[in-house]
Amino acid sequence: MRRTHRCGEISGELLGQDVRLQGWLWHERDFGGVKFLDIRDRAGFVQCVIDPTAAPGAHAASTEWGAEFVVEIEGTVIAREERNVNPDLPNGDVEVQVHTARLLSRSETPPFVIEDEPRTSEETRLRERFLDLRRAPLQRSLALRHRLSMATRNVLDAAGFYEIETPMLTRSTPEGARDYLVPSREAPGSFYALPQSPQLFKQLLMISGFDRYFQIVRCFRDEDLRADRQPEFTQIDIEMSFAEIQDVRALTEDLMRALLEAAGHDPDVEFGEMSFREAVDRFGSDRPDLRYGRELLDVSGVFGGSGFKAFAGVVASGGVVKALRVPGGGAWGRSRFDKLTDVARDAGAKGLVWMKFSEGEIASPIAKFLDAETIDELKSQTKLEEGDALLIVGDQWEPACMAVGGLRTHLARSEEWAADGMRFVWITEFPLLEENVEAGRMVARHHPFTSPMVEDLDKLETEPLAVRAQAYDLVLNGIELGGGSIRIHESEVQSRVFSALGIDVEEAGEKFGFLLRALSFGAPPHGGIALGFDRIVMMLAGLDSLRDVIAFPKTTSASDLMTNAPGGVSAAQLQELGIEVVAREDGE
Ligand code: AMO
Repeated sequence: MRRTHRCGEISGELLGQDVRLQGWLWHERDFGGVKFLDIRDRAGFVQCVIDPTAAPGAHAASTEWGAEFVVEIEGTVIAREERNVNPDLPNGDVEVQVHTARLLSRSETPPFVIEDEPRTSEETRLRERFLDLRRAPLQRSLALRHRLSMATRNVLDAAGFYEIETPMLTRSTPEGARDYLVPSREAPGSFYALPQSPQLFKQLLMISGFDRYFQIVRCFRDEDLRADRQPEFTQIDIEMSFAEIQDVRALTEDLMRALLEAAGHDPDVEFGEMSFREAVDRFGSDRPDLRYGRELLDVSGVFGGSGFKAFAGVVASGGVVKALRVPGGGAWGRSRFDKLTDVARDAGAKGLVWMKFSEGEIASPIAKFLDAETIDELKSQTKLEEGDALLIVGDQWEPACMAVGGLRTHLARSEEWAADGMRFVWITEFPLLEENVEAGRMVARHHPFTSPMVEDLDKLETEPLAVRAQAYDLVLNGIELGGGSIRIHESEVQSRVFSALGIDVEEAGEKFGFLLRALSFGAPPHGGIALGFDRIVMMLAGLDSLRDVIAFPKTTSASDLMTNAPGGVSAAQLQELGIEVVAREDGE
């Protein structure tokens, strides 16, 4: 016995028609014997009415039903009485007059009520995810996710891309996070790594002549988690041969417009562009949120040679003093500034200097070190007004900017600075390398296969930190949606980059020998990008957490509360793998 429609599909267009519906009993109300049942499925719900005199059999059958029972009803679509019309619902003007009713499956009393705004902890919902997923917002998110993946496939297919799968059981890939490892039974003591991205394979596919590749692919990274980071996540991974930066960007913009349209947004958006240097200097971030201004101010000139020795010293040693003007901050007390100092420290600052202007007075812990002239200059340079505060950090250029940028992002949230809208921006001209103080050597900012900008190539050996990469990130409202680069396609350049990274020939051969070998057999110029698919769905759905767009997500401690993964394994399994578990030195 097939259903004729989904519950949510019942509308005024079906008036007078007989329908058969199957779904979950959601709400139930009894008005003097007449029963109103809301029956729900993935399309929505519809109100069904059982009149005990007109349909005594159905009425009797339904007396035993409870919340989340799976039921079938047959009935006629009728108009609701005027006083029962609910204009807030898509089908609030109709109901189904039930003739017959049948139970398909019982339900235990659910541990929480299925409703749009859940009244239970996220922990409970993640443990009972199969019930949580019944809620309309999650149903909508996953439906959107499906539409966006279909749109992606359509756009890329039409642009001549092949979808090709790459291995999950592979070797460590160089994206810079920790790997998830899988022990080998055949070769005890050896491990596969789950891919952090298909980077090497997609480059090999270009060398193999596939020309244009894409994959909607799961990636795995064992890193500290946040609302916009999951240990396993999905990329729209793209690579194209004979392509330059502009080609990758144009394709990505076409794809993003198609995705905006598929999500019901206006696809007519601008894609801005800003160099890494400019983004960090003006916004203190390589993923600036451009929905609000509040740009960083450079007050090095005021503090160089001033009586505040710490900042004067920073300026003398080639550093900068950066400030953020915060309207309303003049009214803040010390404890608020103390909290902001912690925020600045988390963003890498050694400390934070604040200054406030209220009731005609300047107050600051460093006021006593500054003469009236310096304070006046600071006021005029920063356009400080009554009621404002200044947050000031002095350090080398990048850490100083990043620390003030961290404050800017933090305050944007608490002070609600961001306007509505979607501000896309490409960040370009990233430095190729950065210093990793812990490792005591250079590391690639993107990955070691990113091509340097041609005009900077000759600085690779002499001034490596000044070399810019042919790399680009796509940022939307302060969230990094994706990143990519033009790759190195010549073995000689690749060797020079490896040596700038302190990777010797032997190490390079051991780790990426197959790629180096492939590069020596006629590699086309190529480049690509990977877009964070979960993040795109989250942003286009207007949500704040990846957990709301992934069917079975993990917690911030990388566990799945429903399956209890990760879990123990049997002694026999460990033995077969030649693995012995020993206590960690930190006792965990
Ligand atoms: P990258 O490391 O920048 O580049 O990753 C691309 C995009 O993937 C998303 N992303 C994540 N999303 C959710 N959770 C995570 N833990 C997570 N980590 C990354 C982000 C990010 O912008 N192989 C290169 C791409 C290339 O060069 O073509 C790469 O993986 O949205």
